[in-house]
Parts: sequence; C-alpha cells; structure tokens
Amino acid sequence: MRVIHTLAELRQALAGQNRTAFVPTMGNLHEGHLSLVRQARALGGPVVVSIFVNRLQFLPHEDFDQYPRTLARDCELLAPAGCDIVFAPSEAELYPEPQAYKIQPPAALADLLEGEFRPGFFTGVCTVVMKLFQCVQPAYAVFGQKDYQQLKVIQGMARQFALPVQIVPGATVRAGDGLALSSRNGYLDERERAEATALSQTLQALAEGARDLGRPLVLLEAEAADQLRGRGWTPDYLTLRRRSDLLPPTDAERADGEPLVALGAARLGATRLIDNLEC
Ligand code: PAF
Repeated sequence: MRVIHTLAELRQALAGQNRTAFVPTMGNLHEGHLSLVRQARALGGPVVVSIFVNRLQFLPHEDFDQYPRTLARDCELLAPAGCDIVFAPSEAELYPEPQAYKIQPPAALADLLEGEFRPGFFTGVCTVVMKLFQCVQPAYAVFGQKDYQQLKVIQGMARQFALPVQIVPGATVRAGDGLALSSRNGYLDERERAEATALSQTLQALAEGARDLGRPLVLLEAEAADQLRGRGWTPDYLTLRRRSDLLPPTDAERADGEPLVALGAARLGATRLIDNLEC
C-alpha cells in the first residue's frame, strides 16, 4: 500500500486505470470505514482511500480543530482491509488557493435535516467530493448509508453532472448494542457511550410506528424527541421521511407502503450523533 500526499504523484500512480474504486474519508477510521474499503476491494480494480479533514464542511463552532488526525493508525488498518493507495493531501495541496468555486446542491434536498442544523455543510461536502473525484477519477465511489442524506446529495450530484462514476452505497456497521459506528463516538465518555444506544432504539421505535396508520407522524416524531430529551439528549430532529427525496410522506403514501427512512440527529453532552433506519 502506498501513502501519497500530492496530486501529481497520485495521477502518476493511477495513470491508465479505469476501474478504480474510491472511498473518501476524513480519517480516524473504524470498522464502518473498513467495511466500505472491503466493498471497494470486491469491485475488482485498485482501491484508493482519501483521508482529508475538509475545513469547508465545518461551521466555525464545530469540531474541525478537534477532529482526530490519526494517519499512522489509519494506514495500519487500511493495508489489511485491501487499500492500495491512501491519498492524504495537506490543505495546501487540495486547496492551494481559497476555494472560491463551489458546488451548490439544491436547497430542496440540502437545506433540510443536516443542512438545517449545519448550514453550508453539503456545499462543503459536494465541493470536496467533486474535487477528490477529479483527483482520483474513480469508476466507483463507496459512501456509507450512515450519512444517508450525504449519500442522496452525492448521488444527485453525480447524476446531474453526468459524472463517470458509479456511487455505491455501503451498509451501516453497528456495535453490538446497536450504536452506529462513527468517528465521533470516540468523543463519548463511558456513561455517554452506554447511553448512546438510545438513538438507534428511538429510531427503531419510530420506524415501527411508521406502519401504524392510526398514529399521526407528528405525534410519533414528538414522542421520539421527548423520549430522548427525557434521557438528557438534545435532539435536532427525529423524523420519518420518504427515501426518495427525504420529504415527509403524505398519509396516502404511508398507507400505500411508500419506502421510508427514520432519520435522527441529537446531541449527547458535547457530541452530536446521527443515525437512520430504512423502514
Ligand atoms: O463522510 C465523510 O467522511 C465526509 O463528508 C467526506 C465524504 C469524506 C467528505 O469530506
């Protein structure tokens, strides 16, 4: 496995490749990332994993500075998972001048849920992903379903810009108690880590309620939020949406079995966790 820090070296290493599978990450890797790498490996071409903490997708008060940079440990995990190239550019390499050109995803998808609580987040994500796609020129790019809205936004970007890359969804990996693996789980102390399972449990209850047509969505969502609040969480949203566009389903769609997803984001102490469950 090679660790590459410059775009010139990356382009040289990938010259002539047309089956590259790409897994973009911000590092601080865990089993969830490694399962995406193994999925990329199974696609048959060379596997590139990027590690880059993207300033553009953090708000000023968020954890950009605190975000763990663990390149040496990440590389130890990546080699046995089947990664061929780690692309770990510096900020000066990826953004040699202020990034004035940006990819603006549609407000109808990007300004709700995560976008409502993290304004500009998806512009930052789309801009760096578009740039990383130009660097790696992958045939496939694997994105975890744990970041459900991000996956939708990237799928839309790839489709509308006719990018020659297939976006491959990767299933969420969970700990034994149901907590979705996330780099931010490392911020939780012991008590918070034990409590954190309540987010997936609450989403499970919300997902089960989705098919109980006697119970209005607003009621189910309010109950879910109250439940977490009662346990000391600060919920941003707990909601049932259509999988297709992340908008609320109508009663008729609910009755007709429209594919739905329960999505949640909530803060436990200083840590903000997100999760989702298709239903
Ligand atoms: O999901 C992430 O880790 C990031 O949003 C991504 C896709 C690597 C872009 O910085």
